Amino acid sequence: MRLLTALATTTTLLAAPAMAQDMEADVANGESEFARQCVSCHVIADESGEVLAGRAGRIGPNLHGVIGRQPGAVEDFRYSDAIVAYGELAPGDDMTGTAPTGDDFENVVWAHDNTVAYLQDPTSFLREALDDERARGKMAYKVRDEQTAIDISAYLATFSPDFEVPEGESGGAEDAETEAETDGEAEMTDGAAEADAEMEMDGEADTTEGDDASDDTAN
Ligand code: HEC
Repeated sequence: MRLLTALATTTTLLAAPAMAQDMEADVANGESEFARQCVSCHVIADESGEVLAGRAGRIGPNLHGVIGRQPGAVEDFRYSDAIVAYGELAPGDDMTGTAPTGDDFENVVWAHDNTVAYLQDPTSFLREALDDERARGKMAYKVRDEQTAIDISAYLATFSPDFEVPEGESGGAEDAETEAETDGEAEMTDGAAEADAEMEMDGEADTTEGDDASDDTAN
């Protein structure tokens, strides 16, 4: 059973590079933290306008599909110059080194690492990325701890099921592979129904280190 679980997890991790990192992401926690911390300013509404998360937050841009998207790209939203400039950088010019690089990326896109960094301090992140001490972003909010930012980023990625950072590029793909190879102990978090739902979203299921993970999942 353990082996089966490990195999399932391996597949999951390889299919979900956007969220892979040294720290594991808890999508369910990301969802509740998003509801708590982000919906006053952001909505997640799909192309048809259907609201999938949040209510009517309009102070910030719609975050549907934000992972894999160019920063500052929602039409009709009045972004800061700084975030637009960040989106126009070639990935290699991102001084934080957190944007995914490689042939697939002509410009910076939001992926796991840069989103996690941005969420913890948007203006400092943009200053560092642009190497401009006077850069000023418009998002006046900081996620206090890294694990929460990781969880929220993984949750946002569930709305971008097709986005993948190619293997071997930065942005987490390498970490995912290493982790999948070495970490046979990883298991689904508790809540089989939850795991199933997330699997359907194409590999966004979250995992834990397995130390306290339940063995009572869908084995
Ligand atoms: C007080 C309002 C406010 C809160 C709370 C807030 N944001 Fe924002 N957010 C903004 C604004 C305004 C922008 C546009 C930033 C700019 O133009 O520099 C933004 C931009 C973003 C972007 C970049 C979007 C893009 O299209 O490039 C992401 C990602 C993001 N926010 C995620 C979050 C998440 C996740 C949370 C919850 C942890 C959150 N924000 C909380 C106001 C907020």
